[in-house]
Amino acid sequence: MFVTRLSVNGFKNLKNIDIVPDERLNILCGKNAQGKTNLIEAIWLCSGARSFRSTKDRRMIGDDEQTMNIELSFKNSFREQDIKLAMARPNLKEKNAFLNGVKLRSPSKLFGSLNCVIFTPEDLEISKGSPEIRRQFMDLSVSQIKNSYSQVVMKYENIIEQRNVLLKNINMGSSDVSELDVWDHQLAQMGAYITLLRYNYSKKLGAVCQRLYDEISDGREKLETEYYSTVFTRLEGRTDYSKDLAEEYMACLKNNLKEDLRAGFTLKGVHRDDLVCRINGRLVREDASQGQHRSVALVLKLAQAYILQEEIDDFPCILLDDVLSELDLSRQKFVISKIHGMQVFITCCDKNIPFDENSHGKIFGIENGRITANNI
Ligand SMILES: Nc1ncnc2c1ncn2[C@@H]1O[C@H](COP(=O)(O)OP(=O)(O)OP(=O)(O)O)[C@@H](O)[C@H]1O
Ligand SMILES: [Mg+2]
Repeated sequence: MFVTRLSVNGFKNLKNIDIVPDERLNILCGKNAQGKTNLIEAIWLCSGARSFRSTKDRRMIGDDEQTMNIELSFKNSFREQDIKLAMARPNLKEKNAFLNGVKLRSPSKLFGSLNCVIFTPEDLEISKGSPEIRRQFMDLSVSQIKNSYSQVVMKYENIIEQRNVLLKNINMGSSDVSELDVWDHQLAQMGAYITLLRYNYSKKLGAVCQRLYDEISDGREKLETEYYSTVFTRLEGRTDYSKDLAEEYMACLKNNLKEDLRAGFTLKGVHRDDLVCRINGRLVREDASQGQHRSVALVLKLAQAYILQEEIDDFPCILLDDVLSELDLSRQKFVISKIHGMQVFITCCDKNIPFDENSHGKIFGIENGRITANNI
């Protein structure tokens, strides 16, 4: 799948952008603060995901603009489709999304149309950072292949917040323990569903990561990844989330009530789970070197792209924002060799990217939010 046309106007500092990207390699080149990442973000938003920079909706429209428009056409092996995102002052809460001219209920309904994988310097923290980063990684990965998943996660997060407020109220005597039942029942259903989908995803991830890590470490090290559940001790072979797993989840909430009340929040559940990585049996989070962390992060992101590719039976579009400049030459080459054949958008401040001489593509200059030149 690849983007065939991109028009952006009024998104942050971007103005009157209208480009026909190359089917393979696109380099967005410019000095700092000119709009390179903004352009990557505009493409990313068309995939239906939330901003990778956590930009609030009201900050998406340019400061001096009345309207914001992102229009993108993309092609897969079947047909060409159009996506449009639009906002207008004064109603900055509403971001209107259209797919092939039809207005969608929300931009998240775009999930599953344009499939992108993004690498940013923050992604290099996936391996080293807190479990929350890895949960977000898994949740995004799963929502890209299961359209309705992100809504379940959002609902779950909402209910956990309400349950935590209730726990505090029970502690203060203003609510009764029996009020927890209605929340717990919903949490158990959703939590079991999220666990199962994450677990199944992490199994696929484990297999792909092992193969890639073997390559990046020249066969010296073995990477294993495993889903860590705070609720279930055994997930292998289990499939019935709405009964069997949900009942066990409910029992866990009940068993843990005393501790939850003492803490004032819910201690166990998918909001506390993790993706655990080990190299040669040692916990990556505790023992890995800087270089190993980088390699694990790259391998996880590449595996995300490969699994998505397998699921959609097509290449996803790859967005690389300032990542290559953070890597040593051998890791740069590794990444580039692994995304061969896919459409890629890369931001950089100079043009020294180690693509081989045979690769062809387009270079777009960006200055002050405008495209200044093609193929400079
Ligand atoms: N809502 C907005 N309206 C106007 N300009 C904005 C808005 N939000 C961000 N910007 C501007 O966009 C610019 C940043 O663009 P961007 O992050 O794309 O830069 P960049 O080219 O990727 O730079 P770097 O090389 O440093 O990463 C900043 O100058 C910022 O002030
Ligand atoms: Mg940038």
